[in-house]
Amino acid sequence: MKLAIIPGDGIGKEVTAEAVKAITRVGEAFGRTFELEHLPWGADYFLETGITIPPDGYDTLRSFDAIFIGALGDPRTPENRHARDILLGTRFELDLYVNYRPVKLLDERLCPLKNRGPKDVDFVVFRENTEGLYVSIGGRFKAGTEDEVAIQEELNTFKGVNRIVRHAFEFAKAHGRTKVCMADKSNAMQQGHALWQRVFKQVSSEYPAIQATHYYIDALAMYMVLDPAQFEVIVTNNLFGDIVTDLGATFQGGLGMAASGNIHPGRTSMFEPVHGSAPKFAGKNVANPIGAIASAALMLETLGLTKEAAAIDAAILKAVRENQVTADIGGKLGTREAGDFIAKEIR
Ligand SMILES: NC(=O)c1ccc[n+]([C@@H]2O[C@H](COP(=O)([O-])OP(=O)(O)OC[C@H]3O[C@@H](n4cnc5c(N)ncnc54)[C@H](O)[C@@H]3O)[C@@H](O)[C@H]2O)c1
Repeated sequence: MKLAIIPGDGIGKEVTAEAVKAITRVGEAFGRTFELEHLPWGADYFLETGITIPPDGYDTLRSFDAIFIGALGDPRTPENRHARDILLGTRFELDLYVNYRPVKLLDERLCPLKNRGPKDVDFVVFRENTEGLYVSIGGRFKAGTEDEVAIQEELNTFKGVNRIVRHAFEFAKAHGRTKVCMADKSNAMQQGHALWQRVFKQVSSEYPAIQATHYYIDALAMYMVLDPAQFEVIVTNNLFGDIVTDLGATFQGGLGMAASGNIHPGRTSMFEPVHGSAPKFAGKNVANPIGAIASAALMLETLGLTKEAAAIDAAILKAVRENQVTADIGGKLGTREAGDFIAKEIR
């Protein structure tokens, strides 16, 4: 299999090295060859060349079976142009409409919620990944003055909403999950989110065996904290999904633990930890590599390599249970040493 590897910026580079270690090790253990091609795109490359992503960059990415990306964002490039082109650009250009973010607690001691254990925190969030407020339609008028007007439009299309809601139900059906919860803000956002309401009613009626519930996004945030066990599958828009999955990550032990996939079923998809480039930790060998390594497992699972993915997940679980982890989740290891432990346990 041919995999594109984009380490990116800051801790992205460090955690990607550990994900690559895990991929290489699982290949050895299962007799598989992964052809890894490292792409240098990121802040350094942009600052040196002025290029965020080359003109044929998206076509290059399409030629791989999957893409792994660390994180993008650098204090030297405050406008974040390279991150927009590489990360959001790839999501849009490759039409990766499913942002798949599992929220799974591995050990009770990692959860900041009182008396909650792994059986209480085990759900997935599907975030719409190609529309919403992130398409950047709008503009600024009289920018920088006291008369400034800033407009940012939220894009919601039937096609976009229908395919992500349908994906959530199909996932529930295929994985023995019995509930799907849709979250919007249709009480206040009465145009775009009326479309989410209509589609959710229509699609849910086609899945009578699955219980369909709805919360406004503010209530969802509250219920996630009060009673996470009620959730199995959550589906929501781009912005709300972005926010509630950081909340979900805290239930797992923090941003360093959370994995994600940007998926177009059947096409080249892209996998990345939920966290960013955490500049304050960059180059210090302190970042938690688990989110990145778990994202590599998601990538292999999506490519149909379920045994390989399960072997990586089992090694992560062992590392957590034996506290062979980084300081953010109570361990004493550095990024490389935590990655080494996990790689060694993959079998
Ligand atoms: N997908 C992405 O590439 C992505 C996502 C979010 C933010 N960003 C970018 O990253 C830069 C920093 O953003 P931010 O500080 O808001 O978010 P961040 O996720 O980089 O970091 C927030 C905080 O979470 C903790 N954290 C994150 N990852 C960790 C890890 N692996 N191990 C241990 N602790 C970890 C740290 O305390 C860190 O300061 C910005 O340039 C932002 O635009 C990129």
